[in-house]
Amino acid sequence: MQILQVEGLTKNFGGLAAVSEVDFHVEEGEILGLIGPNGAGKTTTFNLIAGTYEPNSGKILFNGENLAGKKPNVICQKGLARTFQNVKVFPDMDVFQNVLLGAFFGTPEKKSRSQAKSEVEEILDFIGLSDRTDMVAGSMTLVNQKRVEVARALATKPKLLLLDELMAGLNPTEVGESMELVKRIQKKGITVIMIEHVMKAIMNICKRIIVLHHGQKIAEGTPEEISTSKTVIEVYLGE
Ligand SMILES: Nc1ncnc2c1ncn2[C@@H]1O[C@H](COP(=O)(O)OP(=O)(O)O)[C@@H](O)[C@H]1O
Ligand SMILES: [Mg+2]
Repeated sequence: MQILQVEGLTKNFGGLAAVSEVDFHVEEGEILGLIGPNGAGKTTTFNLIAGTYEPNSGKILFNGENLAGKKPNVICQKGLARTFQNVKVFPDMDVFQNVLLGAFFGTPEKKSRSQAKSEVEEILDFIGLSDRTDMVAGSMTLVNQKRVEVARALATKPKLLLLDELMAGLNPTEVGESMELVKRIQKKGITVIMIEHVMKAIMNICKRIIVLHHGQKIAEGTPEEISTSKTVIEVYLGE
């Protein structure tokens, strides 16, 4: 089953076509990779899907419902969560409060504080931050701030999770741990689209990859097909 269908997605910033007539779909349960050079339109694609921007044209069908033009909070409550390329934790709040916000406001359910608290505890355990629940988020290392963001997204009970450069800026050990984390998220039954420049991670985790360049989809295929595609090597991967 296809959980997401993107058709003719287009977003212009003034004269710049940041995303141009992009079509793709996401199968329920998969981890789809989204790659391409800087400025290719990857983050803008996430911003359109998550409702930060309204597309100029095109459809974003999530479980068959068109999300185009809907507000981010509405989209989140439908089961679509995201993280940010430039980490956006609430810096002055502690880890627990950051994730609690996701649990309270990211789902349409009405829940008691004790129910929300137990959900947050479970997620912090899953993500490996149980021993840092009262740390001020803004004071944490990059990798831990990224984990807080993932935890906050998971607290909204997503069916589809958008990860924007989760591995960027991490050391090799942290990249390895983050790869395991993404696989564990998939095992929970959550579908993932990940934007990533760390090729080792993308090639290892994703069975299917989409390549954007100048706002257009220039390739789609398995890691093997993408890494040997002449077009992709020319514009992105290099020899
Ligand atoms: N809010 C915005 N206003 C104007 N231009 C933007 C905005 N957001 C992105 N862009 C431009 O759109 C293009 C695609 O950006 P982006 O989606 O961030 O690329 P990527 O994530 O692939 O590096 C870039 O040229 C960028 O400068
Ligand atoms: Mg980006």
